Amino acid sequence: MAKKMDAFSASLMADKREIIFAPTVYKFADFGAMAEEFKLGERDVVLTNEFIYIPFMKELGLKCQFVFQEKFGAGEPSEEMIQTMFDAIPYESYDRVIAVGGGAIMDLCKLLGIKRPDTVHNLYFKRFPVVPEKEVIAIPTTCGTGSEVTNISVAIVKDEKDGVLTGRETKLGLVSDDIIPTKVCLVPDLLKTLPYKPFACSAIDALVHATESFLSPARKTITSELFSEKAMDMILKGFKLIDEKGQDARFEYMDEFLTASMYAGIAFLKAGCGPVHGMSFPLGGTYHVPHGESNYMLFGAIMSYYDAKNPTGEILKFKEMVARILGCSVENAIPEMNALLQRILPLRPLRDCGFTEEDFKAFPLSVEANQQRLMTNAYYPFELEDIEGIYRACY
Ligand SMILES: NC(=O)c1ccc[n+]([C@@H]2O[C@H](COP(=O)([O-])OP(=O)(O)OC[C@H]3O[C@@H](n4cnc5c(N)ncnc54)[C@H](O)[C@@H]3O)[C@@H](O)[C@H]2O)c1
Ligand SMILES: [Fe+2]
Repeated sequence: MAKKMDAFSASLMADKREIIFAPTVYKFADFGAMAEEFKLGERDVVLTNEFIYIPFMKELGLKCQFVFQEKFGAGEPSEEMIQTMFDAIPYESYDRVIAVGGGAIMDLCKLLGIKRPDTVHNLYFKRFPVVPEKEVIAIPTTCGTGSEVTNISVAIVKDEKDGVLTGRETKLGLVSDDIIPTKVCLVPDLLKTLPYKPFACSAIDALVHATESFLSPARKTITSELFSEKAMDMILKGFKLIDEKGQDARFEYMDEFLTASMYAGIAFLKAGCGPVHGMSFPLGGTYHVPHGESNYMLFGAIMSYYDAKNPTGEILKFKEMVARILGCSVENAIPEMNALLQRILPLRPLRDCGFTEEDFKAFPLSVEANQQRLMTNAYYPFELEDIEGIYRACY
């Protein structure tokens, strides 16, 4: 696949920046302290969920325009959901956008900050330019995506091949440095209502970000590695703590999980995610498997593929680090990590989410057509049959 590198991937490879860290980052004890610091008022639109608004914001009596994501439909952003959101929030009704939620809400808010496109589909297929016009403040309430510091907004879109709709859906990232939020507020208190499963999925997503960035063959830098390593260290130590003390132990470590997911976001903004994300995107797009879980379904198999193909490259450093944290041998680092993850969240096979025989051929083709920016970042390259082999191994 590396032979067919597209222009966008080539431009990412040519990026000479050591690290991209655009927003100013704040940390607050609670949402009230954030609202006071930023003087939230009527020209602010706050996109959140009602179940986050009620315990954390309602009693503050703020004059902002509160909008609940669930009004536009459940789950991860799709073309339809984004259009419904645009229709529900008039562009002239706000000056500032406050995202209080998981990756889905932060990704939606990035779109509220830019000039309205003719169609959402054209925006995602780069036929409408990204023009930033309003300030976006991101407040993550999961500890996974790192979306608060990244230049990506992901949506489920109608899939295209050579400009023609294929009749299938996939996930696609809209990528532009102009959609990086200008301010980030870390408020660990907001994660105390996050149920265990989305917590675990999002924390695994952050671990995947850190790992894919660490293994990134061409785009990682000394500085991105610093953020990858620290994120992996904090997340794996947190998982060990939960493994030893039970699920509720996460609450005493939430500041670390939330901070680590931001570090992982900083790492992958420069170094890039890779095939775990690339191959999980059609899965999330077609079967609406939550983002962190769809990555998790493929993560172990892809790590084993890398280890089999090139065990002495950067992956050796990765295994040494994991072995140090988990207290196991370097040879056993990947199986031990997979076993720990299995205890944190039982792994579902692909057949459980509806994956069909036809997908073994269709998904690799969709990955090849639309996920080049991720596939070119593979630690070891994949041919179509290797991608199919990963799906089969996870079936
Ligand atoms: N922009 C990026 O850089 C980037 C990177 C990775 C993923 N993503 C996108 O982010 C999305 C996934 O984000 P996510 O993993 O944070 O999941 P999510 O935003 O879908 O949230 C997971 C679930 O937890 C709920 N939730 C969130 N915070 C809560 C809280 N404090 N209390 C109670 N419930 C809460 C949400 O309503 C949802 O049901 C996907 O759409 C994915 O494509 C974006
Ligand atoms: Fe991710």
